[in-house]
Amino acid sequence: MKILLTGATGFLGKYVIDELKNNSYQVVAFGRNEKIGKTLIDENVEFFKGDIDNLDDLYKASQDCSAVIHAAALSTVWGLWEDFYNVNVIGTKNIVQVCEEKKLKLVFVSSPSIYAGAKDQLDVKEDEAPKENDLNYYIKSKIMAENIIKASNLDYIIIRPRGLFGIGDTSIIPRLLELNKKMGIPLFVDGKQKIDITCVENVAYSLRLALENKEHSREIYNITNGEPIEFKEILTLFFNEMETEGKYLKWNYNLVLPLVSFLEKVYKLFRIKKEPPITKYTLYLMKYSQTLNIDKARKELGYSPKMSILEGVKNYVEHSKKNDRKS
Ligand SMILES: NC(=O)c1ccc[n+]([C@@H]2O[C@H](COP(=O)([O-])OP(=O)(O)OC[C@H]3O[C@@H](n4cnc5c(N)ncnc54)[C@H](OP(=O)(O)O)[C@@H]3O)[C@@H](O)[C@H]2O)c1
Repeated sequence: MKILLTGATGFLGKYVIDELKNNSYQVVAFGRNEKIGKTLIDENVEFFKGDIDNLDDLYKASQDCSAVIHAAALSTVWGLWEDFYNVNVIGTKNIVQVCEEKKLKLVFVSSPSIYAGAKDQLDVKEDEAPKENDLNYYIKSKIMAENIIKASNLDYIIIRPRGLFGIGDTSIIPRLLELNKKMGIPLFVDGKQKIDITCVENVAYSLRLALENKEHSREIYNITNGEPIEFKEILTLFFNEMETEGKYLKWNYNLVLPLVSFLEKVYKLFRIKKEPPITKYTLYLMKYSQTLNIDKARKELGYSPKMSILEGVKNYVEHSKKNDRKS
């Protein structure tokens, strides 16, 4: 069975390719990055260089495919609306058009960022997502993408995986570790807010389960490691494995919030593409608890995390140490 995978050149994409290949699927790895495409070809993966804003590319790439996993996105907390709109909204619209015409099943990688807000949220269920959330353009575009899929007549499954981490991650964990080196990590509630994170391997696994599920269609599933943990506790796990000390800064939320809001307004007004030092979205993550309920995925997809947080942390640190020794 051949699967078209968008976002194949990204962090998650690499793991989805492995998950599919290890389970006897053929993959058409879709993306624009030729350098990564070349490494995929070297690993005997079919690479299609294409852009999801180009329908023609998608029609050609999906030839002989029986399903699509759509993981491509502009996945960042800051940027211009037109960029998010083109990739995340129009790109998804194009994928839906191709899937509808060719009668392909669609598995879409959305994001639990859409739940984000200035409040503690524990054990959030899939149907608790707000209809609108303008906290940032990424969130807004993911909600619009989900709505396009829901309005289609496709056989689809939407996965909302929380805070991916693993080898090859370039965002969450590396950024925190870098911050620790440079100035320290700001804490607002002594790092006691509860969060969920997910080993990237588990997310790839959940996508395969979604792909293979025949009993449930047109459903949405949260995916996490099922191990809610305090923010400072997860940092401590990393620092212990790295045999280093965490440096923490005690910040006052009520002083920082107006400053961050002001900065965001200025950056938006002048259409500055570069990310502000801190955004409201990140601030909320650092202050409020947010954990997700994954009962539905456990029950209907048969999902159960394969890798624990501790294993994921150990793998990550071991790999970084090896890389440090090489360089
Ligand atoms: N990382 C997380 O913590 C997290 C959490 C929840 C949900 N997600 C979702 O998971 C998915 C994968 O995230 P990731 O962390 O792997 O992101 P990533 O590393 O930034 O990868 C993004 C992927 O999207 C592709 N892409 C972007 N624009 C494209 C375009 N116009 N045409 C074709 N491909 C395009 C990129 O390929 P090229 O550059 O080669 O074109 C790349 O393969 C995304 O949908 C993201 O929203 C991520």
